[in-house]
Amino acid sequence: MFVKSGVSVEVRDLVKIYKYKGGEVQALKGVTASFGPGTLTCVMGPSGSGKTTLLNLIGGIDTPTGGEVHVGGIKVHTLRGVELDKYRLMNVGFVFQALNLIPTLTALENVMLPAQMAGVSRQESAKRALELLRLVGLADKASRYPEELSGGEQQRVAIAVALANDPSLIIADEPTAELDSQNAKNVVDILVKLARGYGKTVILATHDPRVAVNTDRILRLEDGRLVGEVKPIDLEKSVVGTTPREASVTLSEVIKVKIANVEKEIRDTEEMFRNNKLTAEEFYSKVSRLRLMKEALTELLTSIGSS
Ligand SMILES: Nc1ncnc2c1ncn2[C@@H]1O[C@H](COP(=O)(O)OP(=O)(O)OP(=O)(O)O)[C@@H](O)[C@H]1O
Ligand SMILES: [Mg+2]
Repeated sequence: MFVKSGVSVEVRDLVKIYKYKGGEVQALKGVTASFGPGTLTCVMGPSGSGKTTLLNLIGGIDTPTGGEVHVGGIKVHTLRGVELDKYRLMNVGFVFQALNLIPTLTALENVMLPAQMAGVSRQESAKRALELLRLVGLADKASRYPEELSGGEQQRVAIAVALANDPSLIIADEPTAELDSQNAKNVVDILVKLARGYGKTVILATHDPRVAVNTDRILRLEDGRLVGEVKPIDLEKSVVGTTPREASVTLSEVIKVKIANVEKEIRDTEEMFRNNKLTAEEFYSKVSRLRLMKEALTELLTSIGSS
């Protein structure tokens, strides 16, 4: 289904200044990073830190004020106009938070569209589109219109659309933002499969720690600068060794203690809510955050083996 593998992506001293009436904002202040084939990299950081800007410059949606973007042998920062359009169409698959399906086309027709735009015949596009819908688990819903699909299913169709021209590079900006945890997991599973199974280069921006914990590396952006890089597993490892006592226990024991702490905090929160110390909204937001944390920790425990 895919012929092309991933591609090496390198950004050097990347600067982006947005000018608008009455001022300008430096959204990226010199970012240098690389992204490899077969790797799912996650970009995290506060709102306004420059995540979308970075993704847009790599994907050729916008051009940098300074610095370079290399995608394989392509100097993306030098491309303009039609060349940039062609680069995007043939090399990059975009998945956004806002679903960009065409409402008057079926799922199959939506997925066929990019290949047809690239000059592939209708018959061949349809064959490929069906394979892609199968990959995202929606072959049986190929003839549905977007409004006849759930939000999670629409997002999976959008991923199939992004894959239509066999891109080497997949860029996903908050792809799970509007999804519940099961649908978010489906989307992340597909992105993981594209990187680890098909060797694609996948770059994802997210606020969601449940998503981040499933990626291969996390880059942290703050105020337009890259301030650090961690491997998801190191997040937990860093806990070990903070004190001599903790240093002597295993990673899985540390995680088990953390899970127990989170469970206690959930019970305390429930108690506070019963005693009217929290509004329903505060209670709901706190407990759902804690439950997510527990889920992520439990998953981590399973992934390292709890023996
Ligand atoms: N078209 C634009 N014109 C002017 N300023 C912009 C434009 N796009 C983004 N910015 C500014 O650039 C900075 C970085 O924005 P960006 O969208 O990259 O952040 P982000 O990390 O993706 O945030 P979020 O998590 O909210 O999506 C912000 O200060 C933002 O206000
Ligand atoms: Mg953004």
